[in-house]
Amino acid sequence: MVLDYAVVTLKPHFERFIRKGQLWAYDNEVEAVEGDPQPGDIVRVRNYAGKDLGLAFYNPHSKIRIRLLLTHTAPITADFFADRIRNAYLLRQQLIDFQQNTMYRLVFSESDFLPGLVVDIFDRYAAIQMLAYGLERLSAEIQEALLQVLPDLRGIYAKNDSVLRQKEGLPLYEETLWGSIPEEIVCLENNLRFCINIASGQKTGFFLDQKTNRLWIQKFARDRAVLDCFSNQGGFALNAAAAGARSITAVDSSAPALAIAQRNFELNGFSKQAVEFVCDDVFDFLLEAKRSGRHWDLIILDPPAFTKSKEQIPAAIRGYARLHRLAFRVLAPDGILATSSCSYHIDEERFLRIVQEEALRAGRFLQLLYRGQQSPDHPILPAMPQTKYLKFFLFRCLQSPAE
Ligand SMILES: C[S@@+](CC[C@H](N)C(=O)[O-])C[C@H]1O[C@@H](n2cnc3c(N)ncnc32)[C@H](O)[C@@H]1O
Repeated sequence: MVLDYAVVTLKPHFERFIRKGQLWAYDNEVEAVEGDPQPGDIVRVRNYAGKDLGLAFYNPHSKIRIRLLLTHTAPITADFFADRIRNAYLLRQQLIDFQQNTMYRLVFSESDFLPGLVVDIFDRYAAIQMLAYGLERLSAEIQEALLQVLPDLRGIYAKNDSVLRQKEGLPLYEETLWGSIPEEIVCLENNLRFCINIASGQKTGFFLDQKTNRLWIQKFARDRAVLDCFSNQGGFALNAAAAGARSITAVDSSAPALAIAQRNFELNGFSKQAVEFVCDDVFDFLLEAKRSGRHWDLIILDPPAFTKSKEQIPAAIRGYARLHRLAFRVLAPDGILATSSCSYHIDEERFLRIVQEEALRAGRFLQLLYRGQQSPDHPILPAMPQTKYLKFFLFRCLQSPAE
């Protein structure tokens, strides 16, 4: 079948990014559009010399005008999605011990060559996000493909509440697309049991990207007093409990998330006596903790992104600096700090500098013990820096000798 797609030609200067593996072309990188493609239409992309670069999603309302699909074969069908999803699944089979982990990211958008598509698996249920206009129109094909690759699925839920959809001109909504989704799904991560509620949980139900970093907490938590800041459903706190922490304080501003954290402690049979759940703003909590002379041996910081745009970078830097300043004040001498940033616009070196500067001000020498990132079921394309967002550092924070 010959399909009559609109043709988008890229400016000469920008094609080199595509040649290096970039899968996006921005609005200012388009030289010409032949035809009248509508939001979400498939188009053919050409370089300035007329060479065919394959099919792409097109969206005239988005700054990301073109998302390359890395195929020349039209039309885009359920088989196209099934091939890519199968490939992603084969990779997860190598990365993940499914006996100990029944929740994971199956598809991470461009990183799995499915631009804009996120699929998270929670036992036999899939939570999907469609972050590109073109995907919305192919929702039926995506569902069919998922069921081809994972025939045991019992439900597919669209968690289409991300603000990134607004940049595409897409509405925000959530709904069960296929089958049914129970209110509570008990899943394993690192052999710990977590109660997941896809509809009411933040993100697609759980912060799966910290899976490998959480294991590092197990190495250091034994017999220590642990403070898990921005605990959400207790992801780090539970790993601390599994390792035999002496006491655990879990702080989050979301009461529903903390209620699930509490439930997760029960699910794993951990004693609740040594765990304190505090619903509070972490900044306020740390200030008050300092006033009352409290200290912890291991502090975990995993805040939400402090910036989603370049314009907010200075404010985000101030936010990270203040957070670390407050945390160092309640960290025991020679304590351990595990700190994360999921702000894409704050890169690893800048984040490290912020922590280092605050450590110096607090009179601490930092020993960097581990430098982590998003877990490998969220692969990173070096050609697309946009796919790398999570930074994780683990430090021993030595007290400077008195002068
Ligand atoms: C990135 S998530 C943390 C994920 C969690 N550490 C885990 O392992 O799953 C950020 C959390 O911070 C919470 N939060 C956001 N702003 C906060 C604040 N100012 N004080 C306390 N919690 C906050 C959110 O409710 C959310 O649970």
